[in-house]
Amino acid sequence: ENRPFASYGSALHITLPQPARAGQLLTLLIDYEAGEGPGVCWLAPEQTAGKQKPYMYTQGQAVLNRSFFPCFDTPSIKFTYSAAVKVPEGFTAVMSATSWEKQKDNTFVFKMSQPIPSYLIALVVGDIVSADVGPRSRVWAEPCQIEAAKKEYDGVIEDFLVVGEKLFGPYVWGRYDILFMPPSFPFGGMENPCLTFVTPCLLAGDRSLVDVIIHEISHSWFGNLVTNATWGEFWLNEGFTMYAQRRISTEVYGLPYTCLEAATGRALLRQHMDATGEDHPLNKLRVVIEPGVNPDDTYNETPYEKGYCFVSYLAHLVGDQSKFDAFLQAYVNHFKFQSITADDTLGFFLEYFPELKEKGVDSIPGFEFERWLNTPGWPPFLPDLSPGQQLMNPANKLAELWAADGLNMEAIESVDILGWRTYQLVYFLDQILQKSPLPEGNVERLSKMYPKISEAQNAELRLRWCQIILKNNLEAEYSKVKDFLHSQGKQKYTLPLYRAMWGGSEATRALAMETFSATAPQLHVQVQNYVKKILGLE
Ligand code: BES
Ligand code: ZN
Repeated sequence: ENRPFASYGSALHITLPQPARAGQLLTLLIDYEAGEGPGVCWLAPEQTAGKQKPYMYTQGQAVLNRSFFPCFDTPSIKFTYSAAVKVPEGFTAVMSATSWEKQKDNTFVFKMSQPIPSYLIALVVGDIVSADVGPRSRVWAEPCQIEAAKKEYDGVIEDFLVVGEKLFGPYVWGRYDILFMPPSFPFGGMENPCLTFVTPCLLAGDRSLVDVIIHEISHSWFGNLVTNATWGEFWLNEGFTMYAQRRISTEVYGLPYTCLEAATGRALLRQHMDATGEDHPLNKLRVVIEPGVNPDDTYNETPYEKGYCFVSYLAHLVGDQSKFDAFLQAYVNHFKFQSITADDTLGFFLEYFPELKEKGVDSIPGFEFERWLNTPGWPPFLPDLSPGQQLMNPANKLAELWAADGLNMEAIESVDILGWRTYQLVYFLDQILQKSPLPEGNVERLSKMYPKISEAQNAELRLRWCQIILKNNLEAEYSKVKDFLHSQGKQKYTLPLYRAMWGGSEATRALAMETFSATAPQLHVQVQNYVKKILGLE
């Protein structure tokens, strides 16, 4: 069980020549080589967008950076860093650092002047170029994608930063840049300070997936400034970030749209809990991670969406949005540059609102803070998403029409989905998926009627359409599943599709095997291992 994790490295024991006194300053020089570990990814030219030059990137979260450099690889310890990176001619190096400078000999020198945990140190070396998209923001990408990257986010990033600062306090990291990664990058986004890494799937052409950017920006306060002290309380990073993301989204895009996006998040939590059973031990906010267990193996929707519900519940207890916003700002200010536990968070909440503490809001039967943290299952409180009904209702109605036995084509044709936003379509497809398999023939007709869905290039739509294809055994379109899995390697797209293929027919199992043997070398090693587990290959 623990064997793969052991390959992530082992403790470095250092014997000092003389005993040291407490508080004494020591300088250690460690000469080491990194290469084969899971934290540093080496890509061949074919694995890049331009297919011309090799590329390397690091991904530290949760505990992979120990194979990149010697460190106290725990989020409970913060430190500054500097680095000198010498690269071959024709390559550029970038890092999650507050300043950088190109010196002679193709050497890039970086300095992060704020204390951060080890998992936030990140490096990319590749054939990359940049373009400005705001007063403190630029996008980085391979030359063949820089145009698209600039177009996607030109002029919007600053709006999010300004709203974030208004809500949560100063943005302390200087620049906020975005790096578009090669297609095999396993995440939607990674909040490396000063330089968020994102999947190229975000290049949808219409900004429709910008919620990922708002999410990563939100980590600038929740996660990067105030950090979970242990990976067992990952919800402190992700739950508060989901809340912050939706506060910014509400300010910029309004409540109806934000509630629609939140409803798709809730659907993901529902799918996850249905798949695992509600009382699975990982469906708690505070998770027990035994020594030797890779925290990434505990990754699921609970810290995100149940965490979001808990923070929304705290806001509900306060009852006044501006008072709760002020609390969040005070919370960030109080714990900035520290690593904390949920007890610190909730203790601060009760100190900040003494009248709530007096009322004993932490022990209301059914909603005890202790229960939120330690009991698995569906959140006892769900924020009201009804302001999104105006956007969800048409999608709900249309999904019902398509799930009927005899299709009412007249009613179906009277609905025009061409003007729908991407997230309305996503929400519609989640409804269809939930009702699948549909009566014989319905999905074929749906596919023909809506090329906007069945031929979509947008990754969130493609994921759902592939899930629908598989759940309805739509053999004629199996190649779309294959194509999608060949085109990118994001974990949250890859694993659900392999699970669906493996849980399906003999034909879909064969499709899974064929697709995996062709794409495995492109996938991040952790994603590879998770797929192997699904396919019983380990
Ligand atoms: N920090 C996470 C990504 C992550 C989590 C990497 C755990 C490694 C281990 C990032 O902020 C994130 O949550 N990304 C999401 C974006 C989404 C929730 C908008 C993703 O990648 O899907
Ligand atoms: Zn996140």
